[in-house]
Amino acid sequence: MRRALLLACALAVTLPAAAAMPVGEKVAHGSNCFSCHAVDHKVVGPAFAEVAKRYAHQSGAEALLIHAVKYGHVGTWGNIPMPAHPDLSDKQLEEAVTWVLSIRPTSMRAAAGPAKTYTYTVDGKTVTLDFPVYQPGTKKVTKTVFRGYELFNSYCFRCHGEDAMGSEYAPDLRRSVINGMTDAQMTQIAMEGRKSKGMPSWAGFFTPKELNAIYQYVAGRAYHLVG
Ligand code: HEC
Ligand code: HEC
Repeated sequence: MRRALLLACALAVTLPAAAAMPVGEKVAHGSNCFSCHAVDHKVVGPAFAEVAKRYAHQSGAEALLIHAVKYGHVGTWGNIPMPAHPDLSDKQLEEAVTWVLSIRPTSMRAAAGPAKTYTYTVDGKTVTLDFPVYQPGTKKVTKTVFRGYELFNSYCFRCHGEDAMGSEYAPDLRRSVINGMTDAQMTQIAMEGRKSKGMPSWAGFFTPKELNAIYQYVAGRAYHLVG
């Protein structure tokens, strides 16, 4: 009952206002940008907020970045290349880059509001997570956790084991979560892969949102919240 109440309250404040999405952000969502970038953390490519910060006072930045996205680029942020985007028109490129450059890291954080947490008690132990595992007032897992379960059991289980329990081929990801692996860290490892060790790269295949769902499922398993 207490948990149900807590979840209901949390939900009431997290409902976002139906803000219009900037046109450049729409272009980014319509293209493949978010399979390698996130706004506030590094994935395969740099956080868009970091890009905005780096070029904030540089004249001609817009033209430079349009060129980088259009023809592909490597070397400014590391040695992983960004592919070319011949499918985007010059107008779309300009809109996407203008949006990236408009991102303000501090206002991003402020707009997101204080972090919500969800507390569960399992086997007498308290677990606090920054996402809900169950739908409000029920023992039914959220759609995100369920999606994570589906994705895990389609793509990750053959190395990381049935129900995320690990196997002889790859580590038990529940352990990794308990040992402190965050959502952003898992996303980064999954996007980059560790080819020499047999962990494939999922860049271009999963969006960070899908990997986030996988993380939530694995964390639910790690803390015995998900059967
Ligand atoms: C396959 C992964 C991948 C995709 C897809 C991708 N990027 Fe990148 N992006 C990168 C990497 C890696 C870098 C860093 C390149 C470097 O070090 O110069 C980067 C760098 C950038 C930069 C900074 C470039 C610079 O010169 O500093 C911008 C802006 C950018 N990306 C925007 C986009 C946009 C917009 C899209 C979608 C249209 C996109 N990226 C799609 C991987 C990607
Ligand atoms: C073909 C086998 C294979 C598949 C499929 C696979 N992995 Fe892996 N994964 C590995 C191996 C092997 C390692 C250990 C790499 C190492 O030793 O650094 C690993 C390591 C990891 C790690 C790092 C764990 C840690 O604690 O360091 C994460 C996170 C991860 N995988 C996520 C995923 C996700 C998410 C999926 C599904 C989308 C997935 N993997 C699918 C083989 C695989």
